[in-house]
Amino acid sequence: MEKLLIAGGKPLSGTVTISGAKNSAVALIPAAILAESTVILDNLPDLSDVAIYTELLEELNATVERKDDQMIIDPSALRSVHMPNGNVKKLRASYYLMGALLGRFGEAVIGLPGGCNFEPRPIDQHIKGFEALGARVSNEAGAIHIRATELRGAKIYLDVVSVGATINIMLAASRAKGVTIIENAAKEPEIIDVATLLNSMGAKIIGVGTETIRIEGVNEMHGCRHSIIPDRIQAGTYMIAAAATRGDVLVDNVIPKHLEAISAKLLEMGVHIEEQDEAIRVIGRPEYEPVDVRALVYPGFATDIQSPMCSLLTQSRGTSILTDYVYSSRFKYVPELTRMGANIKLEGRSAIVEGGPLYAADVRATDLRAGAALVVAALTVTSGGITEISGVEYIDRGYDRLVENLSRMGAEIWRK
Ligand code: EPZ
Repeated sequence: MEKLLIAGGKPLSGTVTISGAKNSAVALIPAAILAESTVILDNLPDLSDVAIYTELLEELNATVERKDDQMIIDPSALRSVHMPNGNVKKLRASYYLMGALLGRFGEAVIGLPGGCNFEPRPIDQHIKGFEALGARVSNEAGAIHIRATELRGAKIYLDVVSVGATINIMLAASRAKGVTIIENAAKEPEIIDVATLLNSMGAKIIGVGTETIRIEGVNEMHGCRHSIIPDRIQAGTYMIAAAATRGDVLVDNVIPKHLEAISAKLLEMGVHIEEQDEAIRVIGRPEYEPVDVRALVYPGFATDIQSPMCSLLTQSRGTSILTDYVYSSRFKYVPELTRMGANIKLEGRSAIVEGGPLYAADVRATDLRAGAALVVAALTVTSGGITEISGVEYIDRGYDRLVENLSRMGAEIWRK
């Protein structure tokens, strides 16, 4: 298995251009199969999760063509195919095929999703939504079977604010008869991105970005062209890496509004932040203040960025507290940071982080963002040595051209 090797201690400097968002792409690609004609997605990130989704659409008899950062999906010959096993198990977001196939064919059989298993991640709210729309849902030998003779709009209150459930219900409800209202909906920018695509395909969705979404079902949806929003989690990771290495980096092709929670926290630590129209410049300082960070649903500080943030907190002078209110135990990376010399105590859903230097070590990424935390940690090491990170396949799921981007900014990083 490949490893990432990092000789830290080099301040990052230069510009990094952020690609399209992974968590949008993995919802937009299945959304496209609700159309009867060609959908073109621009600003597509080059990630292993996107490659797996390409194969999934091909299994459904869609024609998929990729040219640089563009994906052309022709779903006109799409077939309803049962997928109890195989590629669906390789990524979590395969659950979006449930909503999309249900909307298109009135049935879906999809194996329970795989992906980053940093803790149990139930899909009960997705299922509650499908049932409210009139589908029968059963779990047969680890595959979810969903069938509806007719999908009918309904009022659905989500017990937990869930990105996946909000999107999955929007997908199915777009082709239901009548009006669906989702209450207590999630507000993440990726949800707005999916609704923008669906509306361009002929759906009638309003209220995205608020907690109440109204979807008026339509009989037919058509192709369109859509540009994927920039990846705010990748952008946040580079902002953190710039600060952690005391560098000077322009994080380009971003929507600064999507990064407000992270910019505010970095400012509070003493990092210099300059916001431009579509870029953020981050200039590190020799010393940082400790801060308290609470990972929350959007527009709060993203849970997906709390792991790399933890690595930055080790660089502050004093004690910081990092609490994740979205996932209660997303801290599998902490023992790995401890191997690098970090002083972190776990208490319930919080990590208590004492500032201090990190050292090179052999560590393992246990999930995507754990990998990002280890990369940031390794970049801060000034005492020499090489950090070897295994589990690179997780990192490749969500960071487009990571080695190239960091190398261009002066990092000593390579694959072996
Ligand atoms: C999305 O996962 C993202 N994945 C995750 O990104 C991200 O961590 C998460 O949202 C939270 O922002 C994709 O977009 C593909 P949720 P999702 O449903 O939709 C609980 C990354 O690193 N819940 O919003 O699966 C759940 O356990 C990844 O890029 C239920 O209880 O997350 C969690 O505590 C990993 N029942 C909370 O809600 C449900 O039916 C939020 O989860 C659904 C969720």
